[in-house]
Amino acid sequence: MKIAIVGLGYVGLPLSLQFARSGATVLGLDIDSTKVDALNGGRSYIKHITGADIQAMVGKKAFSASTDFSLIKNVSAVIICVPTPLNKNREPDISFITETGKAVAPHLQKGTVVVLESTTYPGTTDEDLREVLEAGSGLKAGIDFHLAFSPEREDPGNPQSVVATIPKVVGGYTPACLEKAVGLYSIAIKTLVPVSSCRVAEATKLLENTFRSVNIALVNELKVVYSAMGIDVWEVINAAKTKPFGFMAFYPGPGLGGHCIPIDPFYLTWKAREYGQHTRFIELAGEINTGMPEYVIHRLADALNERSKSVKGSKVLVLGLAYKPNVDDDRESPSYVLLEMLKQRGALVSYYDPYVPVIKHTREHPQWAGTKSIAWDRTTVEGFDAVLLATNHASVNYQELADWSPCIIDTRNAMVSIKTKPGHVAKA
Ligand SMILES: NC(=O)c1ccc[n+]([C@@H]2O[C@H](COP(=O)([O-])OP(=O)(O)OC[C@H]3O[C@@H](n4cnc5c(N)ncnc54)[C@H](O)[C@@H]3O)[C@@H](O)[C@H]2O)c1
Repeated sequence: MKIAIVGLGYVGLPLSLQFARSGATVLGLDIDSTKVDALNGGRSYIKHITGADIQAMVGKKAFSASTDFSLIKNVSAVIICVPTPLNKNREPDISFITETGKAVAPHLQKGTVVVLESTTYPGTTDEDLREVLEAGSGLKAGIDFHLAFSPEREDPGNPQSVVATIPKVVGGYTPACLEKAVGLYSIAIKTLVPVSSCRVAEATKLLENTFRSVNIALVNELKVVYSAMGIDVWEVINAAKTKPFGFMAFYPGPGLGGHCIPIDPFYLTWKAREYGQHTRFIELAGEINTGMPEYVIHRLADALNERSKSVKGSKVLVLGLAYKPNVDDDRESPSYVLLEMLKQRGALVSYYDPYVPVIKHTREHPQWAGTKSIAWDRTTVEGFDAVLLATNHASVNYQELADWSPCIIDTRNAMVSIKTKPGHVAKA
């Protein structure tokens, strides 16, 4: 079977390789020619995917990449994995989906199955995407071509999270669309979870991400409340999670990060307004989670104050730029917010991240482009008045950090089992 996967990022690339491994011939399409060239040359641009994995599939002609959308005429399935960000006003920006739809439509053949995987609000597939596909192709969804939505459940950096074994929810525009889409995914994915419509599948993904956002907000709020009472929230969570039923551990942090949890729930908030509905849990969770960097900076200011120093003029190292441990993904990372808040307050800021040696250009934080991670050595780390530990990468030597840094603000409980001096580490 020949399939096209559009958008070769954190979702599209591992999915392409999984289909290629499973016997499909995969055409990867992206508008970014540097990614296309890298893949055809057998090189990876994502830390947890090796060049060897790509070379193996390119070598046996199971996978190739291109920027040429006209090649869609040769495939029987198209899977779309393009970004779904929020715009400046924090409203959904589905232009990547509709642009992809416009690029795909003129080449769409009768009988092709088109599946959207990008996280989005209910109605995107059967309204927005359907309209552009039908207008550009002259074909009718559910009659001439099949249309479906199947959300991605990628968990980058988690070795247990393997594309083939994560159950996959699929919803079709018609029962026949569902059947076709289930048939497509069953080539590469072990367990499929069919649901009654594209909208149910879209809503399922939003429930999953809202669930995380709300529960992270809960422990973030409890972190602040318990800290005021002199209780360590991490110790509380570790005790609570011994309950064998009815509890699931979530951990506090310096703020939400990544391409999903800080963004996706607001897709639902926006769409709910059309129905006169309010998403109060989502709004409250957003408020608490976006307040976390401010709380962390206060804790840092207190720790410096204890040492008769002010934030202004202090040298502060933010440890970890990626939004979560052991990945190189810095999208929506709260570390940027921390760097900016510290800079505004007059601190002299640097960062260390073994997976982000240089900050690339981003739409959200263009002013940091080109900034380099410091080197990890005693003299450099000793030169900072405080280290703000934002991401707990497993490869960082936390004992060296304790030995070298005079003051550590730990937002991840990373120092819990490290030998430190009293008053040396403040949790935040
Ligand atoms: N990263 C995750 O862990 C994750 C998990 C679950 C769901 N998702 C969702 O999956 C979708 C994709 O996320 P991602 O992390 O893979 O994004 P990404 O930014 O890593 O990759 C998207 C790719 O799409 C390409 N692209 C953009 N516009 C295009 C167009 N018009 N035509 C062709 N290619 C285009 C980009 O160049 C990029 O390579 C988003 O909706 C996201 O919310 C992401």
